[in-house]
Amino acid sequence: MMTKSALLEKPPTPQGMIEVRIIQSRPIANNQWSIWVKPDEAGAIKELPSFLPGQFCMLSLLDRVDPLIARPFAIVDQDDGMYQFIYRVHGKLTHQLVKASVGSKLGLVGPLGKGIPREHLKKGKHCFIAGGVGYASLMPLIQELVKNKREDAGRIFYGVREDLEIIRKIPLAYDIASDDGSAGFHGRLPELLKKKESDWKDSDWFYICGPTPMMKAVYDLLPPDRSLYFLEETMGCGFGICIGCVVPILNEKSEVKKVRSCIEGPIFKGEVLKPWKDGAWAL
Ligand SMILES: Cc1cc2nc3c(=O)[nH]c(=O)nc-3n(C[C@H](O)[C@H](O)[C@H](O)COP(=O)(O)OP(=O)(O)OC[C@H]3O[C@@H](n4cnc5c(N)ncnc54)[C@H](O)[C@@H]3O)c2cc1C
Ligand code: FES
Repeated sequence: MMTKSALLEKPPTPQGMIEVRIIQSRPIANNQWSIWVKPDEAGAIKELPSFLPGQFCMLSLLDRVDPLIARPFAIVDQDDGMYQFIYRVHGKLTHQLVKASVGSKLGLVGPLGKGIPREHLKKGKHCFIAGGVGYASLMPLIQELVKNKREDAGRIFYGVREDLEIIRKIPLAYDIASDDGSAGFHGRLPELLKKKESDWKDSDWFYICGPTPMMKAVYDLLPPDRSLYFLEETMGCGFGICIGCVVPILNEKSEVKKVRSCIEGPIFKGEVLKPWKDGAWAL
């Protein structure tokens, strides 16, 4: 029997920070931007390493002291030694990123965290449940199905506030839920999932990424042993030092323990996340 965490893998992370330059920066949807970065030519690393879907990088602005702390972003795609990230313009770093021009330098640490082996997408049926910019984290998995010509094996449920927020790169059958009714189903993702149950019930695996309240709201609808939640806990370092990303999970003996999401995650199976869902923090 597969152990609770056996599915996820952690490839080796390159040591230290890599200086990268922004190669392309453009809006991709309302308040969301795509950037491609590649290693600075003067550095020792010429190409960014391969990554597994679900892995992330810590990005920082090298020419600014505020914000001092790097922020985590999921790797969306890779091409010719470059990475793509998609971010929602949210707080300090992302507001600065929008203003950063092509050629600007960033600090990148990664790929970090455990990811999903690409082999995993070669069989079975897969259901992707995304809220807002959480869709970006699921894009490498969706692309993997497309690469394997397995579009029929995937289904997307995508929740947004409004039509303009949709990242229009949706290569599988999909349904949209929008808060204001401007696209698809007028309402929230959990309601859409209940309405469309026959379209996803026979999926073998579920991948969920979005705002924490949304992920908690769909939790009870999905099979916990076949659901993978992409947590977006606040992170300080991304590699286990600051203890800023702790989440309560169940261990093999079904006891609650606290783990660092950057090391043990950021992807967790629903079956271990029960204490997170229930808001339990006491050990
Ligand atoms: C593994 C991982 C992958 C991520 N991938 C992406 C991605 O691909 N695209 C994307 O847009 N975002 C992603 N995020 C979320 C992103 O890192 C945060 O939103 C980040 O704080 C944005 O930086 P900022 O400086 O613009 O905002 P900040 O100034 O850091 O944040 C503004 C406000 O949000 C709060 N906050 C910060 N981080 C979080 C958080 N994780 N959850 C809830 N509240 C928070 C702060 O306390 C503050 O009040 C990811 C997070 C994780 C952990
Ligand atoms: S982010 Fe620092 S320990 Fe996880």
